Amino acid sequence: MLAVNKFAITSVVALLVLTGAAANENGTLTSIEEDTPRYDAAGDLQVPGRFREWVFLSSGVDMDYKPIAVAAGHSTFENVFVNPGSYRSFLQSGTWPDKTMFMLEMRAAARATSINKNGQTQSEQVLGRELHVKDARLDGGWGFFAVVDSGIGKPIKRPAECYVCHEAHAAVDTTFVQFYPTLLPVAKAKGTLSPAYLRDEKVTGAAQ
Ligand code: HEC
Repeated sequence: MLAVNKFAITSVVALLVLTGAAANENGTLTSIEEDTPRYDAAGDLQVPGRFREWVFLSSGVDMDYKPIAVAAGHSTFENVFVNPGSYRSFLQSGTWPDKTMFMLEMRAAARATSINKNGQTQSEQVLGRELHVKDARLDGGWGFFAVVDSGIGKPIKRPAECYVCHEAHAAVDTTFVQFYPTLLPVAKAKGTLSPAYLRDEKVTGAAQ
């Protein structure tokens, strides 16, 4: 009898793990597999509450491509996450399906905390969050959103420098796959690198 119960409990736990399901604050079951962009009537994006459980792609440190509102001398990490279903799709195809969502989280760096004497780690201070969303209903098929204090994503309308730089330099489908080390080899193998990126690589002589 005990063995049967144990088996039943293990099965339920395994099922929950397999489906990625978990109870949210309201006690209802949700799944990160269901992550898809949701908007309100004004076109603002609901920031996905569980992005921290998405797939981590990379942390850029002090990348020098846009001025960021931090005091000089303080380093910033940029952490990039993507929703898991789209990540798996990328591994198969080398590009992003409709409804892909990226979160870019900027965090202040910390020096010499705890036992650390050298180098830098990420602090609790979040400096900003931005989303990049692929959605056929958005102008140009992709949109940027700036996360404001209330926790919603405000659309960044075209024209804006975000679109200009991403369209001119990003390696795959306006996303910076050249800086996501687990994905760049996939894009190379699938032949999905953008003409803009290949041109850049030719100019810098780094093409492979
Ligand atoms: C001059 C070029 C440039 C500009 C302008 C720029 N970005 Fe980016 N963006 C990048 C690079 C490079 C990365 C890769 C970051 C990393 O590796 O940490 C990136 C990554 C991102 C990502 C992660 C998903 C992806 O597309 O790769 C988001 C979200 C993002 N940027 C939002 C924005 C927003 C919002 C703006 C405008 C306010 C903006 N960016 C302006 C260069 C740019």
